[in-house]
Amino acid sequence: MIDLHAHMLPGLDDGPAKLEESLEMAAVYAAAGISKVAMTPHWVVGSAWQPPVEKVLKWVTGFRGALAKRGIDLEVAPGMEVAMTMGISGLIQAGEVLTLNGGAYVLVEPPFQQLPVGWEQILFEILAVGHRVLIAHPERCGHLAREPEVVREMVDMGVGIQINWKSLLGQYGKTVRETAWSFLEGGLAHCLATDGHRPVDINAEKLRRMKRALSERLGEARTRLLVKENPERIWVGEPLENLSPLKAFSQKKTRRRWFKWR
Ligand SMILES: [Fe+2]
Repeated sequence: MIDLHAHMLPGLDDGPAKLEESLEMAAVYAAAGISKVAMTPHWVVGSAWQPPVEKVLKWVTGFRGALAKRGIDLEVAPGMEVAMTMGISGLIQAGEVLTLNGGAYVLVEPPFQQLPVGWEQILFEILAVGHRVLIAHPERCGHLAREPEVVREMVDMGVGIQINWKSLLGQYGKTVRETAWSFLEGGLAHCLATDGHRPVDINAEKLRRMKRALSERLGEARTRLLVKENPERIWVGEPLENLSPLKAFSQKKTRRRWFKWR
């Protein structure tokens, strides 16, 4: 499996504070069958979390060396989780934020409450300069949980949607868990990722259990797409296939039809 969203590098954000904990996390990931992980520290404009690109790249290189020394078989690549804000496309072009594995996709984190006014413009500008967008854990955003039709608009724009394993495991409570499942069943998700911050966040048993639940509720083929095939496409920068809803999904009429430009 490939994990496109993990706070594994030490001392950059609210992930591990020390290298030892990062290595412990890496060992847990490798044992859980994860072969590649994008290191995605937070990048939030106007906050203490704005790690310079050079620092993250240096840490990724250093971390590879530490993994090899410990014999931990895990491929790591640079990335960032960029908070949704005006001007992300400019930041990418100026080389101030990192895309996933240096490729086409940028991981964009929506706010936990309300999307900013002009969110369409933010995403459109990224797409317009030839990049792709992966939205992190929309199930944790109150606005998107209340208005899944907005997630549908994003999907219709060609934006990828990433759900957290931890949401399905119930680590943010029942409401987030149910929202995550409703997005998966509504065809409003392209892939799963850990969003891990600590070694205890995931393990082989938890992922096995969730994969079984996914297969039962969504079927084998769709589970494979979410867990393996789409993350692989994102890793190499290929476009994603949209999924049709599995069952009737409470969808209000889509607003802003003028925006369906592709
Ligand atoms: Fe995250």
